[in-house]
Amino acid sequence: MSEFRTLDDLDFRGKRAIVRLDLNVPMKDGKVTDSTRIDRSAATLKELVGKGAKVIVMAHFGRPKGKRAPEFSLQPLVAPLAKALGRPVAFAEDCIGAPAEAAVAKLKDGDVLLLENLRFHDAEEANDAGFAKALAALADVYVNDAFSCAHRAHASTEGIAKVLPAVAGRLMQTELDHLSAALGNPKRPVMAIVGGAKVSTKLDLLGNLVGKVDLLVIGGGMANTFLFAEGKEVGKSLAERDMAETARKIVAEAKRKNCRIVLPVDAVTAAEFKAGVATKTVDIDAVPADQMILDIGPKSAKEIGDLLKTCKTLVWNGPVGAFETSPFDQGTTAAAKAAAALTTSKALLSVAGGGDTVAALAHAGVVDQFSYVSTAGGAFLEWLEGKDLPGVAALKRQ
Ligand code: 3PG
Ligand code: MG
Repeated sequence: MSEFRTLDDLDFRGKRAIVRLDLNVPMKDGKVTDSTRIDRSAATLKELVGKGAKVIVMAHFGRPKGKRAPEFSLQPLVAPLAKALGRPVAFAEDCIGAPAEAAVAKLKDGDVLLLENLRFHDAEEANDAGFAKALAALADVYVNDAFSCAHRAHASTEGIAKVLPAVAGRLMQTELDHLSAALGNPKRPVMAIVGGAKVSTKLDLLGNLVGKVDLLVIGGGMANTFLFAEGKEVGKSLAERDMAETARKIVAEAKRKNCRIVLPVDAVTAAEFKAGVATKTVDIDAVPADQMILDIGPKSAKEIGDLLKTCKTLVWNGPVGAFETSPFDQGTTAAAKAAAALTTSKALLSVAGGGDTVAALAHAGVVDQFSYVSTAGGAFLEWLEGKDLPGVAALKRQ
């Protein structure tokens, strides 16, 4: 039996089910530019419709900070949501009170309603108990399908679970299953690839990972800080020179915990960071003082690929180079393709997530070949840091 209650634990027929989704999707000129979060939310809603529930969707959009503002309305998501579900979706102008109650009263079994932005009320982010009760009053049961909001202790992600019977939706369940397969009780050896710009933003994450994984590959700008801490010339590279001592402590801690830290052995450098600039590929001991490291080199990418062949599990967060600008995408793409090939041949379980990571894997064209790519940004990071996510904790079986 799973550690969490799921849709299998409740009878939904004729019940009003209030479902927290993450519909915080990128939009431009009122149009959704990436519908991944909507598409991945559809399974739970379709199942609830099929089970004859009256489905009430609640979500936030952007950060309106407690003020009603048209640019943060969820109204433009009615049509994309209806399209993903293949059925009409009603809309209520407010998420609590008379407009919401009237809209809920009109629902028949199997109907779907979307409530206006939760964050038009500052009581949502304050996790106000009265607001959680007002939301709960609309429904009989609560479903949380927003793993990517689970790091927030808000009324719709935490408070309401204290008032109504609470279960995880299918997307939440899938996220939790894959995350626990990757770090909770993984098949070893486990590799983590951590990239991104700064060590300072990922300190807790690195501290947690050295105690959990067998190999920790560090790339991106943060690798420069580790190289600098080892006394290497990093030239004009982005590096947090004041974090050198911290980097050395992480390396020492890794040693104690039998975690091997893998730093780049070569690099692609340039005099400045811009597209089309002349590049050099150099060994890591030979970075010219007037150049900056912008990607791992081919030997490093090959080493990651070779080490991956010895691993059973991969957790990936953050690109290993400045992948948005060609040709500094090559290291990330090579590593991503190596992981994808091993996953396809069933030799590797690969889980990735967090902000830029999804964009980098999409750029490499391998999202569908990974075992799981999380839709979460901040929540994925906090999970990698080993933190208890309030929205997940609220769903645990007592
Ligand atoms: C996200 O987009 O990461 C989630 O929807 C959470 O949004 P928030 O960072 O504004 O809480
Ligand atoms: Mg965010």
